[in-house]
Amino acid sequence: MNSNTTDRVQFPDGFLWGAATAAFQVEGASRSDGRKDSVWDTFARVPGAVLGGDTGEIACDQYNRYRDDVALMKSLNLDAYRFSISWARVRPDAAKGPAGVNQLGVDYYSRLVDELLANDILPWVTLFHWDHPAALEETGGWANRDAAYRFTEYALTMHEALADRVSVWTTLNEPWCSSFLSYGAGVHAPGKLSYPDALAAAHHQMLGHGLVVQELRKRQPEANLGITLNFTVADPVDPSDPQDVDAARRIDCQMNRVFTDPLLLGEYPRDLFPDLAEAGLGGVLESVIEDGDLGIISTPIDTLGVNYYHGEEVSYREYPGAVDGSAPVARTTQAPYPAAEGVKVRNRGLPMTDQNWEIQPEGLTRLLTRLHNDYTGPRNVALYVTENGCAFDDVPDASGYVDDQNRLSFYDAHLRAIKDALDAGVDVRGYFAWSLLDNYEWAWGYSKRFGIVGVDFETQQRTVKASGHWYGQVAKDNAVPA
Ligand code: NOJ
Repeated sequence: MNSNTTDRVQFPDGFLWGAATAAFQVEGASRSDGRKDSVWDTFARVPGAVLGGDTGEIACDQYNRYRDDVALMKSLNLDAYRFSISWARVRPDAAKGPAGVNQLGVDYYSRLVDELLANDILPWVTLFHWDHPAALEETGGWANRDAAYRFTEYALTMHEALADRVSVWTTLNEPWCSSFLSYGAGVHAPGKLSYPDALAAAHHQMLGHGLVVQELRKRQPEANLGITLNFTVADPVDPSDPQDVDAARRIDCQMNRVFTDPLLLGEYPRDLFPDLAEAGLGGVLESVIEDGDLGIISTPIDTLGVNYYHGEEVSYREYPGAVDGSAPVARTTQAPYPAAEGVKVRNRGLPMTDQNWEIQPEGLTRLLTRLHNDYTGPRNVALYVTENGCAFDDVPDASGYVDDQNRLSFYDAHLRAIKDALDAGVDVRGYFAWSLLDNYEWAWGYSKRFGIVGVDFETQQRTVKASGHWYGQVAKDNAVPA
């Protein structure tokens, strides 16, 4: 095991080093060139929905500064840039057919891809990172099955425009957030508080994923097609207490397996249905599943993207000092899990990030190993860590420089945890730091900084942090230094 040592660790040849962002979090230019509102634009205007009332109108202004940002990536020796496409820029009215396409929006992504390729940086495209057009929400958004077909049409618009230069396509980013947090808990756009809608949204997003994989595979057989999911590693407080074990099972089922099982095993987890029935949601998920859906959802993929931030220790018992890692929104919200009432998260005393997320690198080794053994290994699906990172309360010096040794240590520890998984035979092929830039952290607005590059939101000045310099060297050497 390397994770507890300070040795230099060398990564396998060809290991991909990148950084990630998402359209709504960095692009800004929310009204430029025909873009219209996404659900995040409208949600951000709801009083109390986003901390400080922050919006994505300007964000990091990457829409206008992408050339400088690509130069920055180049200076950090990055092999790949994981970014997402704004559906609301490309099909602003969510209208069907060729007339619904906003060519100026499409052209932006074409320019961005060209700039990346000119700098020898692989474009890693995500088609949906939470910001569907507000116009689509008017017809029920993802709670309406039609969204899966609209998503496919939008994806094909982008595929047609970019497939001559883009070979890696991620359908969805973290559908757990864009269904359970968005339609169930009410903390993300569109801010709904309906577990039936959340279950329907999750199913329809996965259906859209499968439809897109089928269509892209036909058109570009050699492409690397995949999806990115967010995972937790839920440990029972007391592994000998059946109730604590049940608490951990529920969280695992309703966050992890609710997606991995349909995706890779072709069925929903069996234990999900009785849990839902017990919570008064019997028959709800069943009612949106149509014949053939699970076959579509489990269409073979090449890559499973893993987003890992933290684990948690759970129990039904009350603990003093329970931590709340959710955004401090001033609206009515509810728990994201439809059927885990009473489950509490215990603060087990690990160091925390600025968001009260515990720092638990060893959980990443366990997660990758489990995914490889239970899901991806037998199906020849590669694992990439498509997001990992941390928010800290950065204090810039007079020149804007941030000496973020805490973030640097976070990356160091998690990269060592990945190396442990690699040494155990797990097929992990790359890593993306979240994030390239400080950006719009959803319901937290600009209050949480995740960047390896700092952004002064007044001037849009970018300053590489200590963690960024360090990460750039890691990418160059393909190794974590001693
Ligand atoms: C996951 C999401 O994909 C990303 O948009 C977000 O900013 C990070 N987690 C940090 O919360």
